[in-house]
Amino acid sequence: MSAGGPVSAGDPTIYLNGRLLPLSEATIPVTDRGLLFGDGIYEVYRLYRGQPFRMKEHLERLGRSARAVRLALPEVDWTALHAELVQRNGLEGADATMYIQVTRGAPRTRTHAFPEPGTPPTVFVLPRRLPPPRPELHERGVAVITRPDVRWGRCDIKSVNLLANVLANQEAVEAGAWETVFVRDGVVTEGTHTNVFVVLGGEIVTHPEGPRILSGVTRTGVIEAARGEGLSVREAPVLRVALEHASEVFLTGTTAEVLPVVRLDDRPVGDGRPGPVAARLLRAFARLVAAA
Ligand code: PDD
Repeated sequence: MSAGGPVSAGDPTIYLNGRLLPLSEATIPVTDRGLLFGDGIYEVYRLYRGQPFRMKEHLERLGRSARAVRLALPEVDWTALHAELVQRNGLEGADATMYIQVTRGAPRTRTHAFPEPGTPPTVFVLPRRLPPPRPELHERGVAVITRPDVRWGRCDIKSVNLLANVLANQEAVEAGAWETVFVRDGVVTEGTHTNVFVVLGGEIVTHPEGPRILSGVTRTGVIEAARGEGLSVREAPVLRVALEHASEVFLTGTTAEVLPVVRLDDRPVGDGRPGPVAARLLRAFARLVAAA
C-alpha cells in the first residue's frame, strides 16, 4: 500500500522518522535504545470528534520529559503532522488518541552511556481510533487494587520504562479490577496510567505534583473544572489508611477522563456507588472538552 493510499482500520498510516507509512511496514533497528534500555519518552493525547484536546500541554510535557532525560527533541511540526495523520487515517470527527514516542536512537552497539553525538533520535507517532465508549464504566464505577509503588524516583518523567506499571496493571486485570493504585511510604501516589483523587471529609484531595507522580493533563483540567464549579481541591498526600474513610475515590487520565472507583481492595468505597463529586466533575470536564 502506498503511503497516500486508502487506509484500512487495521493498518493505520503512522509517522516514523520523517516518513508517513503503513504501520505494517514500519520497523526500527533492534539496537534502538528504547528497546534495549527503555531510553525514551512518550506522550498520549486525545482527539474528541477529530479535535485534539490540550495538545499544547501534552507537547510541553514532552519537552519537559526530554529535558529531564537530556534528549534533544528533533524539529517536528507537530500541528502539521497531526493534521496529516488525521486526514490520512480518516479521523475527522473520530474519538482517537495519538501516541508519540521519542527514543535516544539506534546506535550500532549497546553501551549504557549515551550514543555518539549526532545519533538521530527515533521518533514515531501512532494514531489509534478509540473503541466505542463504554458509558457503563462511568455510570457504575470500577474496582481498583492497591500495590506498593516500586517505581523509580522520577515518576514525573513520562518515560517508556513502564515495567512496574505493566506488572501492576496486569495484577489488576487478573484480580478483575480496572486499575492498580500505587502506595509509597503509606501514601497514595497515582495509578499505573491515571491520577487519583479522593473525597475526604467533603474535601477533594489529590497527590501534589513532584517526582512521585506524573502531572496529568487531565488532572490539571479536572482541578480547573472543580474550581470552576466552586469546589476546592487540596493538593496533599493522602494516606492509604485514609481511603477507608473516603466518601469517593476517582481516577483521571486521557482515556479514563473522570472515572469513579467503587471498590478498593475488595471493599466498597463510600456507599459502593459512584458519588456526586465525580459525576459533577465528569460533566464539568465534558464542558471543558466541548469548549476546547
Ligand atoms: N498515561 N499517571 C501515569 C503514570 C500515567 O501514565 C498517566 C497517563 C497519567 C494521566 O496523565 P494524563 O491525564 O496526562 O493522561 C497519570 C497515558 C495515558 C498512558 O500511559 O497511556
